[in-house]
Amino acid sequence: MNSLGIVILAAGLGKRMKSRLPKVLHCLGGKPLLSYVLKAARGLTPKKIAVVVGHGAELVKQACDGSDVAWILQEQQLGTGHAAACAAKTFRDFPGELLILNGDVPFITEATLLGLLRNHREQNATLTFMTARLPEPAGYGRIVRGSKGEVARIVEERDATAAEKKIAEINAGIYVASPRFLFAALESLSNRNEQNEYYLTDIVAAALKMREPVRTVEAEDAREIMGVNTREELALMEKLVQEKINRKWMAAGVTLKDPETTYIEEGVKIGRDTVVGPNTHLLGETVVGERCRIDGSAYLTNAQLTDDVHLRFSVVLTDCKVGDGAIVGPFAHLRPGTQLGRQVHIGNFVETKEAKLGDGVKANHLTYLGDVAVGRETNIGAGTITCNYDGFAKYPTTIGERVQVGSDTTLVAPVRLGDDVYVATATTVRRDVPAGALVYNERVERAREGWTEQKRRKMGKVKA
Ligand code: UD1
Ligand code: MG
Repeated sequence: MNSLGIVILAAGLGKRMKSRLPKVLHCLGGKPLLSYVLKAARGLTPKKIAVVVGHGAELVKQACDGSDVAWILQEQQLGTGHAAACAAKTFRDFPGELLILNGDVPFITEATLLGLLRNHREQNATLTFMTARLPEPAGYGRIVRGSKGEVARIVEERDATAAEKKIAEINAGIYVASPRFLFAALESLSNRNEQNEYYLTDIVAAALKMREPVRTVEAEDAREIMGVNTREELALMEKLVQEKINRKWMAAGVTLKDPETTYIEEGVKIGRDTVVGPNTHLLGETVVGERCRIDGSAYLTNAQLTDDVHLRFSVVLTDCKVGDGAIVGPFAHLRPGTQLGRQVHIGNFVETKEAKLGDGVKANHLTYLGDVAVGRETNIGAGTITCNYDGFAKYPTTIGERVQVGSDTTLVAPVRLGDDVYVATATTVRRDVPAGALVYNERVERAREGWTEQKRRKMGKVKA
């Protein structure tokens, strides 16, 4: 749309969030609020998008892909009217309409915005803005109308009388106006109100004073225009995001045993006939294949699972890959750089990091595998530790194929074990072991008969 310019207001402190983070960077479904508004804005293919930033401006710029965005700095946050006025330089002579969006209203859709624009043009209005009817309008600006139902002004909650507070029709914070009118009206604003701020909402009364036609469009789905101003609202909206994402995956053939406790972020993909148990978090760019089973209490961030993987109860997986038919857990921790081949088994209390495990490798109990490559079909016994760190640097361990690593083995890196090596139980391996060899530590084992009774006597536990 060549005749459309968009201004997104995102400079506010978000006082009611009580946060050090700019409000528009708080996340829903793992993505910042502002990125939702930007997505809807881009969907309209406007000629120009500008975002007004101020509080935490640099953070906001870093967090959102802004290659096609003009950033406008509002140095002091003097109110939404002042924020919009900051866009004057960029848009004063813009040949078309200006759409103004609040950066904290993330659910707004392209379709609704298109409807608003269509209406604005059909009605030949100078200013059109969106309203909605909410059963609980508290916190929003209310639409005050005259006796014939014509709009008169918007009053903010804090400035409203008791009677005005009862009005259910609220201001969504979404406006379309001609730049000529908008910037003239913004110059006329005063900050004589409860917050001593310049309110963008006052352009409605200004328009009427200037005898310019003002129209409103009511949102069909009031949920679309909900704003995030408090942590409570953020939680409520997160719930709505989760419900929507969960519905999408269930419709696509994924079983969620307990959708209420399943958290799936926007960027995640899940294959058919996968079954997801309670208290599961699938975050970031996590990909889960088909027919996987996730028993429950799983926390996956950027994990890639191919098909038929079984994650048993309580696992944490981060930046890792898991091959077909692998079984992981219960109580396992796959850290970044872990790559499990097909049919790998990782059992309880096993931690891996930068670990490449070939097909069919088993590490079933109490093990740490860090900075290691393990060949196919190797079995890692209980209590095996790769000692990869000497307090200064990390060193690699390489283990061949079909190796049998006995229980209670410590592998002091850097060290290499060839194929078909057999490591005896309780061995500390410090040097490379050639293929097919047995490696063990010489130890003397003795048993002293009668020792326990002697000791007890000495300690006075057994009477003579
Ligand atoms: C605003 C509207 C209210 C409406 C509600 C809808 C005003 C005065 N009130 O109230 O009528 O019902 O949105 O969600 O406009 N911002 C700036 N610079 C500032 C102040 C705010 O850029 O100096 C930005 C904020 O970052 C935010 C947006 O403007 O993205 C709205 O500000 P906020 O303080 O949330 O306004 P509300 O009280 O929600
Ligand atoms: Mg708000």
